[in-house]
Amino acid sequence: MSTVGKAGLEDVVVSTSEICFIDGREGKLLYRGFDVDDLAEHSTFEETVFLLWQGHLPSKKELADHQKALATNRKISPKVLAALRLLPKKTTPMEVLRTGVSMLSSYDPDAADNSHEASVRKATRLTAQMPTLVAAWERIRRGKPPIAPNPRLSLAANFLYMMTGKKPSELEARTFDIALILHADHEFNASTFAARVTAATLSDMHSAVVSGIGALKGPLHGGANEQVMLMVEKIKNPLDAESFVRKNLADKGFRIMGFGHRVYRVEDPRAKHLRRLAFEVGKQRGDTSKAEMINTIARVVTEVKKIYPNVDLFSGAAYASMSLPTDQFTPIFAMSRVAGWAAHVLEQHSNNRLIRPRSEYTGAMRASYVPLDRR
Ligand SMILES: CC(C)(COP(=O)(O)OP(=O)(O)OC[C@H]1O[C@@H](n2cnc3c(N)ncnc32)[C@H](O)[C@@H]1OP(=O)(O)O)[C@@H](O)C(=O)NCCC(=O)NCCS
Repeated sequence: MSTVGKAGLEDVVVSTSEICFIDGREGKLLYRGFDVDDLAEHSTFEETVFLLWQGHLPSKKELADHQKALATNRKISPKVLAALRLLPKKTTPMEVLRTGVSMLSSYDPDAADNSHEASVRKATRLTAQMPTLVAAWERIRRGKPPIAPNPRLSLAANFLYMMTGKKPSELEARTFDIALILHADHEFNASTFAARVTAATLSDMHSAVVSGIGALKGPLHGGANEQVMLMVEKIKNPLDAESFVRKNLADKGFRIMGFGHRVYRVEDPRAKHLRRLAFEVGKQRGDTSKAEMINTIARVVTEVKKIYPNVDLFSGAAYASMSLPTDQFTPIFAMSRVAGWAAHVLEQHSNNRLIRPRSEYTGAMRASYVPLDRR
């Protein structure tokens, strides 16, 4: 009898972890015991990163030091920028991020040191530098010079500034900050698992983060937020949203992005915040049509398929309202999730054992080798 569990490791518990808790039936998500609803209301991305890495909320001094480290490590080597300029302009932002993060390790003074302290320093630099990489590519591909980071701005506000050259409104900066908080960790999702598998070979922080980026890129994971907006752009007229969805859902194989989840059986607890933010930012910009269209899609999909919105449904509408390009949505996800990947790498290294599962072999046995000239 086969010993293989359900496909896709569904319901397999592979490890203990103190970082993140999900209740898929109640729609609850906790980071280190703190409800993301509370963090979205009261915390900042920088504070949430500290919480994920250190396991407790920072004191005033700890937060000030941590914020300073994240703000003063944003610059990337001009050699990395020069290398980015050599890439074909059609390279997608997610490919550039994967390549760029890999290059950053060549310029990291702690690259060869896998001690806990060095790994925290590397995680700090990566969290600080990934927004700079993402924004630099946006400028380079548009034929403009990258904008230097401003250490006086929060990580969220500085990213929007480096992307557009303009300081964002308070609402936009806070919206983006909350979006980063909500995407920062999510237990053993595919990219975090990929990062932990890499870390468990005693490989380094940068390699684990590159593994995470590779896994996040796919449309069944982080790539879904981009696909949602492509669907919205395809529908064009909000009045056509309902018929588009009903028509496509009639095809059994049709996958509608931004819906369904391996763990949640109810609406993803992050979705309500992003829905509200998408409407708020849209209102400030005088256009809520994208948020309204997505809301209509959500109503119809839930009615017809009994599947619920996930984190990727509304984030794109909020980002689009801030004029962020659609193919940057997944790199933005990675800029936040690096916090979770790093927390998991630190946890993996603190009590490591190689992750090496088995497969059940179903191929041929006892095949006899036939020399090439007799085949
Ligand atoms: C996230 C996801 C990959 C989880 O997949 P999973 O746990 O393997 O779930 P399954 O693919 O087995 O789906 C279970 C059932 O729900 C249906 N379903 C799940 N998500 C669906 C979606 N987005 N659109 C249409 N049907 C969906 C499947 O067709 C399947 O129905 P069936 O049992 O009648 O065949 C899946 O829901 C999906 O593809 N969602 C769209 C991509 C997305 O938004 N990803 C971001 C996740 S945060």
